[in-house]
Amino acid sequence: MSSKYLMLLLALAAVYTAAAENLESYEGAQLLRVKLSTPAQLKAISILETLNFKVDFWLEPSTKHPVDIYVPQQHLSSVKLYLKEHGIEHEVSIPDVGELISEQARSVIGIQQDDEMTWDVYHRYDTIMTFVDRLAADYPDLATVENYGVSTEGRPLNIIKIGRNDTSGKVKPAFFMDGGMHAREWISPAIVTWFMRELLENQAENQDILDGLDIYITPIANPDGYEFTRTNQRLWRKTRSNQNSPVGCMGVDPNRNFEVEWGGPGSSGDKCSDIYRGPEPWSEPETRGIKEFVERKLEQGVNWVAYFAVHSYAQMWLVPWGWTYDLPPTYEELIQFGNVGASALTSIHGTRYDVGSVTELLTPGSGGSDDWAYGSGIFRYSQTVEVRDTGRYGFVLPPDQIIPCAQETFAAIQAVSRFIITGQK
Ligand code: ARG
Ligand code: ZN
Repeated sequence: MSSKYLMLLLALAAVYTAAAENLESYEGAQLLRVKLSTPAQLKAISILETLNFKVDFWLEPSTKHPVDIYVPQQHLSSVKLYLKEHGIEHEVSIPDVGELISEQARSVIGIQQDDEMTWDVYHRYDTIMTFVDRLAADYPDLATVENYGVSTEGRPLNIIKIGRNDTSGKVKPAFFMDGGMHAREWISPAIVTWFMRELLENQAENQDILDGLDIYITPIANPDGYEFTRTNQRLWRKTRSNQNSPVGCMGVDPNRNFEVEWGGPGSSGDKCSDIYRGPEPWSEPETRGIKEFVERKLEQGVNWVAYFAVHSYAQMWLVPWGWTYDLPPTYEELIQFGNVGASALTSIHGTRYDVGSVTELLTPGSGGSDDWAYGSGIFRYSQTVEVRDTGRYGFVLPPDQIIPCAQETFAAIQAVSRFIITGQK
């Protein structure tokens, strides 16, 4: 073997190891599910987060629904003991989170190079954004891509507008959809790109929607976080901005960074928290970009009607408020709108959804895009759709669920679109 060739091999091996070393392993970590019935149990579980066991609540502590707790391998026995001491029974829903993650990674590597957009695997930011550009190029009279900013690490924040250009001068109702706000919720970009494809490549079935509405979709609202889940930590949630944390904690929860009762319950001032709200509202270019885009379009005459934040997981159609247990003034019509969406969704594959306000069904979370959209008075209907599943796989949803999840959620979008179009005539 020539020494040149050997050098090349060594160099490649080094690159490969470096890449693998960057990837956090999650080996032996488990997802535990507990059901809490008393306030004392709820308190015991909430305290867990402060005990240095490095737990991560995939579903926040509540007595209203099961709670999913991610526990790293080295703290499993202590956490299980703690649960036992507090009389809390648990089930193991994912026996090895690391194994599940690498299984999915292996299936991706086997299938293809990540350059062509498909819905059988989860794709990288570049692949998704190239797909969005190509759609707009292929359907110039129905779709346009606009830029609304640049992420902290320099990635373009792009949004596609889909709808037939109206020549009659009539102002159409407009929807806004944010996908990929939370980095690890891979199913969100995967399904919102399916919506785009359906609308444009299956026009025959969507004529009324293309004629009657403008739909704006940002597929990856938090691109730095999304890419970080591909290169470093599969379970990262926040943005990647530098917060000058003395212990090196990075990023802001973008869904706690919007301004409406910013800093309220269900958000944290701790830079290391996964629900860190940031130093001030709109501190992140990713959230500020959305606000400025929506306001600029409003000034230009866009008739904003509905806002959809697409998250996972829980199978819930959530309406404001997230910052208070009080119900919003137009609660009834928000629920009516949500029921239209959720029942269309269920009709496709039988997937069940709960419809209710964030605080009715979950725990408070202040500073979300849904509350801002509604509270600013810009959007009459605002919701967060928490898609599949209910905790069997959680954030590590197997890619063979992308298409069924996309189909049923798109049926919901079609139903609420038609509800708006026929209602507003
Ligand atoms: N899981 C979502 C989050 O934590 C729920 C968002 C619901 N809306 C809200 N304003 N908290 O961001
Ligand atoms: Zn989320």
